[in-house]
Amino acid sequence: MFAPLQNDTFLRACLRQATSHTPVWLMRQAGRYLPEYKATRAKAGSFMGLATNTDYATEVTLQPLERFALDAAILFSDILTVPDAMGLGLSFQLGEGPKFATPVRDEAAVNRLEVPDMAKLRYVFDAVTSIRKALGGRVPLIGFSGSPWTLACYMVEGAGSSDYRLVKTMLYQRPDLMHRMLAINADAVALYLNTQIEAGAQAVMIFDSWGGVLADAAFRTFSLAYTARVLAQLKREHGGVKIPRLVFTKGGGQWLEAMKQLDCEVLGLDWTVNLAKARALVGENGPNAKALQGNLDPNVLFAGPAQIEAEVAAVLGSFGAPHTDPTQAGPTQIFNLGHGISQFTPPESVEVLVNAVHALSRSARQQPG
Ligand code: CP3
Repeated sequence: MFAPLQNDTFLRACLRQATSHTPVWLMRQAGRYLPEYKATRAKAGSFMGLATNTDYATEVTLQPLERFALDAAILFSDILTVPDAMGLGLSFQLGEGPKFATPVRDEAAVNRLEVPDMAKLRYVFDAVTSIRKALGGRVPLIGFSGSPWTLACYMVEGAGSSDYRLVKTMLYQRPDLMHRMLAINADAVALYLNTQIEAGAQAVMIFDSWGGVLADAAFRTFSLAYTARVLAQLKREHGGVKIPRLVFTKGGGQWLEAMKQLDCEVLGLDWTVNLAKARALVGENGPNAKALQGNLDPNVLFAGPAQIEAEVAAVLGSFGAPHTDPTQAGPTQIFNLGHGISQFTPPESVEVLVNAVHALSRSARQQPG
């Protein structure tokens, strides 16, 4: 049904298999730093107009791939489509960020929550299939969702937050309500990701963008446990092909040992993490070894080309010697930013970054020893 994959570097690295170069893609690689994205968004009228239209969503997903030699595509959508389908009324005002018309603030609102009918998210699955066809096998397509905790942050706060006061009030005052909401979120996310896999997603990523705002014990109880509940329900393969699962917790560096126990293939890391230490903790061989994804500070892209190349070299060097033995699994890196790309990034910087990752990581594999 879909064309055969021509560049499997990303999927191989997810599975800790040797590759000819370090694969690279960028969180938010389709977005406002690209003038062609802004033009399509203007035609669509709004962010949701873009995300709910199959042709537009396909067009903007492919835009960064036309410019840069990226090794993966990511579905153009948003993590907040799931709470929107739960009836919370999502909108994006230009320049303001997301808002929910009816946030979940009390017991009655939590009691009304249900795993949404996936028919309401049909536009996402249609986009996945359309993008997969349009890619024609150039690179694999990543599907994604928010983590149960990160979704709960937006569902309770009703928008972005600087202090997470409302969601943490519920967590400490009524942990029973928080657990009920997180269980529903986890089951909804698992169903959502499995349906993306059936529609054509070749890997799936869980964005735990706000896990890092939690206290140590609270992270384990309210974020990690529910990410694990999602992972336990995910399909491991589709049509006989493995579907790697990636988990990114922003600010999660201090919990790597706990995250090593997760039933997933890849851990995403932000720029505060030392890659050599992370590799020693979770990347080397052993039963729970994982591939690592990250972790260049997105602000590096505001410096000049020579500085970008030097910082790329530093990130590759920090991960250390590439795994080159084709006969067995070993430590692998997927190059990415430590968080989403800024809308103010010069597109030329992305070209420098992608080409530097490919050139430097190829030559590192040609060094003896
Ligand atoms: O990576 C990609 O290219 C795929 C598309 C993607 C978007 N959002 C498109 C988007 C993905 C993977 C996301 C995930 C997402 N959305 C996360 C997790 C990742 C992270 O950044 O931590 C979160 C927390 C959200 C919620 C969200 N969506 C916020 C806070 C905002 C506004 C922030 C901003 O930059 O203005 C969005 C809107 C959004 N989602 C945009 C894009 C390209 C910009 C909106 C626009 O075009 O007006």
